[in-house]
Amino acid sequence: MKVETKTQMYEGAPWCLGRYDSFEINKPKLITLLGHDYVIWKDEEGNLNALDNICPHAGANLAEGGYILEFKGKSCLACPYHGNKVQFLGDGKVIVEGNLSSQAIQQVLPLQVIDGLVWTYGLHWKESEGKLVSEPIEPLLPIPDYSNVPFLTQSHSQLHLNKLNHIYFHSESVNCNILQPIWNLHDGEHFAGTHRDTFLTKEIKIDNLVQNENKISWQLTQYKRNDRDAKRNQNNLLLEDVMVQCLNSFLPSLTVATLDFKGQLVVGVVSMYPESPEKTNVSLNSYLDFEFAWWQKLLNIPEKANKFRDRFIFEDVSILNNLYATFNKKITLKNDTPAELAMNYLENWDR
Ligand code: FES
Ligand SMILES: [Fe+2]
Repeated sequence: MKVETKTQMYEGAPWCLGRYDSFEINKPKLITLLGHDYVIWKDEEGNLNALDNICPHAGANLAEGGYILEFKGKSCLACPYHGNKVQFLGDGKVIVEGNLSSQAIQQVLPLQVIDGLVWTYGLHWKESEGKLVSEPIEPLLPIPDYSNVPFLTQSHSQLHLNKLNHIYFHSESVNCNILQPIWNLHDGEHFAGTHRDTFLTKEIKIDNLVQNENKISWQLTQYKRNDRDAKRNQNNLLLEDVMVQCLNSFLPSLTVATLDFKGQLVVGVVSMYPESPEKTNVSLNSYLDFEFAWWQKLLNIPEKANKFRDRFIFEDVSILNNLYATFNKKITLKNDTPAELAMNYLENWDR
């Protein structure tokens, strides 16, 4: 990994801001993408709106304290500072003292919702004549189509997240460039290191590794530890002796992991986007193709499985927040290969 690549934000990639269902109606939310803040809110009609978060009057933070009003039957966002006088529509038009602007004044962040996920390419902001102005970013990659990922499971030929049962969500900002979580996600070896107390892995094996431009797929086989500590561990029951996960990565933003657990499909979707060169938002959403049985609920299996997820995310986040920003790679481990393919691909981003 070259030092200068760690200030890259990979403009031109599509970024997933989360599940459409995770945005609550009329609850403005702040997101930071590619160094700029936006306010996102879902209106009563279910439209998702995203605008530049800085109020053009006196610079209020629209997401922090902004509230929803109605203007001629349309829902609008009121500024937390002078919202009695200034409100915003989702198309960027602004209502000032009851008068609607004829053109958009507030910059809109364009969004697309596909299979229940919210995507954007972001905007490029620069200073021009003392003002901050934005321009669209030319897409370098399409929004990932993961419906036909290889090695799905025997029971599924196609993957549609909208048709699965969503069971888990966690999102976190980590203090590092996006390259570090990408490395972590493509690093099978960390299951036996970082996650020694959760996944109880003795050994891992990587098979069927294929790369096609920004798409990398591989199978990760984890062999469970069998020592005394592992046997006593409360996670022991949640893990099989041999587990095969299929990982399908769409660099740099999305990885879909599928696991055939006793004939049933468990899907983990890891999405990430750069908030800034030094801060990355990482999210995990998990899905199942089945409902838990009554006896599994009685044994608190769903809660236990989600606690397990919380725990291993905590392990990843701790590592990611404690990496040095600069280093020279001097040694290589056998299972570094998927991570190295990912790093090599991203090193030539601006080609
Ligand atoms: S700061 Fe927003 S209207 Fe004054
Ligand atoms: Fe991990």
